[in-house]
Amino acid sequence: MNVLLIGSGGREHAMAWKLAQSSLLDELYVAPGNPGTLRHGRSVDLDLKDQKAMRNFILEKRIRIVVVGPEGPLVDGLHDRIADDPQLAGKVTVIGPRQHGAQLEGSKEFAKEFMFRHNIPTAAFRSFTKGQLKEAVEHLDRMTPPYVIKADGLAAGKGVVVTSDRKEAAQVLKSMLESGKFGAAGERVVLEQFLSGVEVSAFLITDGDAFKMLPAAKDYKRIGEGDTGPNTGGMGAISPVNFADKDFMQKVHDRVAAPTVRGLREDGIPYQGFIFMGLMNVGGEPYVIEYNVRLGDPETQAILPRLRSDLLDLFEGIASGTLSERHVDVDDRTTATVVMASEGYPEDFEKGFPVVGVDMVKGAYVFQSGTILKGDALLTNGGRVLSLTAFGKDTEHAITNVYHSVALIDFEGKYFRKDIGRDLVRAPQQA
Ligand code: AMP
Ligand code: GLY
Repeated sequence: MNVLLIGSGGREHAMAWKLAQSSLLDELYVAPGNPGTLRHGRSVDLDLKDQKAMRNFILEKRIRIVVVGPEGPLVDGLHDRIADDPQLAGKVTVIGPRQHGAQLEGSKEFAKEFMFRHNIPTAAFRSFTKGQLKEAVEHLDRMTPPYVIKADGLAAGKGVVVTSDRKEAAQVLKSMLESGKFGAAGERVVLEQFLSGVEVSAFLITDGDAFKMLPAAKDYKRIGEGDTGPNTGGMGAISPVNFADKDFMQKVHDRVAAPTVRGLREDGIPYQGFIFMGLMNVGGEPYVIEYNVRLGDPETQAILPRLRSDLLDLFEGIASGTLSERHVDVDDRTTATVVMASEGYPEDFEKGFPVVGVDMVKGAYVFQSGTILKGDALLTNGGRVLSLTAFGKDTEHAITNVYHSVALIDFEGKYFRKDIGRDLVRAPQQA
């Protein structure tokens, strides 16, 4: 089977690595891919908006499965453009929802209304549009701080502000609704109740009918140790985590995952692909903070090594509508993932520094994201440069192992958090 994977990050490198292990795979193409994915498939330069080029590529290379890594192309309707092309109809399966289903991530208001309609636990909310600044500010007085303010549309993880300062909250509302910060994404804002707890990323894969849970992970979102400083795409991950124990994950399955897939069906929204449930564990009860319509980065780098099952077989289960017959077999051991970033990220940083030591790493997987090949030299080319994943029999061993490997890699201005997973080791183990 020939597969086209869309994306260029560490998530896509991990997916390419996993797909390449499948006996069902013939050729893997990655658009655009990165120097890491080159080991597992061919990089192709494809303009996703050029319908003719996409169609010709899919037909010429006999692509059966298109896997979309990031949310952007899905929210933008890539699935619809492929599935509705008369020459491609029935020939290819897209892993990732149509534009309608992608609204689960593309619009916070859509997601909140969906959750309320289907009784899926989430924070109470009100939404306001351009022209309702006064009402939005007045609404702050009916809320208990901290205030959670979210731009409705995609804002690359930067559209959420949590603050206890009413003045700041009012300013944020003004900057989004009036001054056009976040552009169209911020023309509608969602004000929601603050949830106090620990966050966990849970994942499912669905053919629109059946679904299977994938391993859960904790993501370390802030740039600084001890969860300080600005939000990033994610600086590390641990899978599994002790605060998302069997009991909790059963609740996630019953109260979040199952009603989400059922709700999509009831609403007449066809959905095939992944759903990332960003959850808050509030005293043992799961609440949905957000949905994403894709896998997480760096969570994917932590969970795919634990997945023993053939990922392409699961995709084939989606293609044939027989996902219910497939098995998801998971390694019990723990993985720790540490992201190595460029100094200055998530703000300004320099690029073009040689990355050395990747080939010396033996005890971890090295997934590339912000790298580029210039001749034979591997250079930094982004904020998040690499992520490393190691196994351990528990969190403590996994983090010891991953940091051994991190120490072998060097580039000018390398930055990584040294405390990934530390909070989980100190935390008392739950029964
Ligand atoms: P989101 O983009 O919706 O995932 O929000 C980004 C981050 O803001 C989350 O990872 C949480 O840390 C925080 N956050 C979002 N919504 C809430 C909420 N209702 N209560 C507490 N924290 C929240
Ligand atoms: N690591 C969080 C995300 O992928 O959105």
